[in-house]
Amino acid sequence: MIGRLNHVAIAVPDLDKAASRYRDLMGAKVSSVMELKEHGVSVVFVELENTKIELLHPLGGNSPVAGFLAKNPKGGTHHLCFEVSDLRSAVAKMIQSGARVLGDGKTKIGAHGLPVVFLHPKDFDGVLIELEEVAKTDLDEGSQVDP
Ligand code: CO
Repeated sequence: MIGRLNHVAIAVPDLDKAASRYRDLMGAKVSSVMELKEHGVSVVFVELENTKIELLHPLGGNSPVAGFLAKNPKGGTHHLCFEVSDLRSAVAKMIQSGARVLGDGKTKIGAHGLPVVFLHPKDFDGVLIELEEVAKTDLDEGSQVDP
């Protein structure tokens, strides 16, 4: 059911420092800081050949990463995002098997403008999982590039 690893999200206490490490020390292609107010995060995207890293920092008073950083002040892996081609059926399968979908279980539009849901970390060995619906053509293109 799941396709590619779309991104690994890392919560960081200092976004500029983290971005600089990936850009200047690791030599990665790094975006400028983007403020996603509706998601309560500032994000820097790190483009890798086979996936992305998203560096997350809280933005505003009700950020989903504020609590995580309070518990992990030095930062840490926040979630993994897997691609699926049919999010509704993936959610139905999760609920049927007893895995908990966070929030009201409805899909939301994520940081990339695509439908997402988050799955409870207690059902996945302590790791918060994001499922993102990508167009089937994207998956097809990926498999052509990387057979
Ligand atoms: Co994500």
